[in-house]
Amino acid sequence: MQFPEYRARRLRRTETLRSMVREVQLDHRDFILPFFVRHGKNVRNPIASMPGVFQLSIDELLRDLEEPVERGMPAIILFGIPEKKDPVGSEGYSKSGIIQQAVRRVKDTYPDLVVITDVCLCDYTDHGHCGIIRDNDVDNDQTIELLARMAVSHARAGADIVAPSDMMDGRVAAIREALDEAAYEWLPILSYAAKYASAFYGPFRDAAESSPRFGDRRSYQMDPANSDEGIREAALDVNEGADLLMVKPALPYLDVIWRVRNTFDLPLVAYNVSGEFAMIKAAAEKGWIDGDRCMMEALTAIKRAGADLIISYHALEAVRILQGDSPRQRKK
Ligand code: PBG
Repeated sequence: MQFPEYRARRLRRTETLRSMVREVQLDHRDFILPFFVRHGKNVRNPIASMPGVFQLSIDELLRDLEEPVERGMPAIILFGIPEKKDPVGSEGYSKSGIIQQAVRRVKDTYPDLVVITDVCLCDYTDHGHCGIIRDNDVDNDQTIELLARMAVSHARAGADIVAPSDMMDGRVAAIREALDEAAYEWLPILSYAAKYASAFYGPFRDAAESSPRFGDRRSYQMDPANSDEGIREAALDVNEGADLLMVKPALPYLDVIWRVRNTFDLPLVAYNVSGEFAMIKAAAEKGWIDGDRCMMEALTAIKRAGADLIISYHALEAVRILQGDSPRQRKK
């Protein structure tokens, strides 16, 4: 069929027609909302590079979960800022660690909310790397033992899904084995399968206070130029027992999302990371773009590329728009 018999514009004439032939529709169930949690009470520290995102103490976190839960959002992912950092990231796998405490309280208050925990040492180590340092680099095999310990301690606190983000080799198998041994054979692993060494994590590292004190993460996170390798990484994680796969970041890696989608049939998560969020916020603040429309377009693109679920700092704002109401008055 071709012009003039075929006219593509016929189905674009009205919003109702457009909505009938829309291929991808965002939904509140598509989103996972990230939170940064730290010790204390009444703590609500703004993060300069992430407007509207805060480091929260547990009491404040519980308050901020009210609206997403009311709106039917299914899940959150938690990142912790410890009291004290050390070379081996002890608080990361301590029973009284910030994440362990937060998970217990959140699950007590909102039992149906799915709580995902990030399993990685970088928030807890004083050098800021994602594992144990030996000879100026992260030692793989020692690190995966600690990650397995961390995953089990999250499970004991009540986590619903554990999400290793460290990019060590063999971590999914090590975590699976440790969880099974501790009788958490039912607990799913969401693997950050293709995670790139990205400059788009900049604002997150302010939020989580997790910048490496020396060097960078290029000896463990992936080279942004590689997508075949992304498929290989995902295949390894599938073999090791991952239940869900993740590609991260999202927008600069839509091709990788698409390839992983078409190669594996596991549920696929995309992480719309802090730098992607900050760019839209900054340009909107300057009045250079329409922030809400750019946000919805970006999230739609991530779903169109093949993501089943999207981790995004925009998630609550997007859901407010999807549910057609203005930001509600928050009860304090
Ligand atoms: C921990 C971790 C990072 C992010 C999620 N988990 C930071 C990093 O790898 O340096 C980044 C998320 C974001 O930028 O929003 N390893």
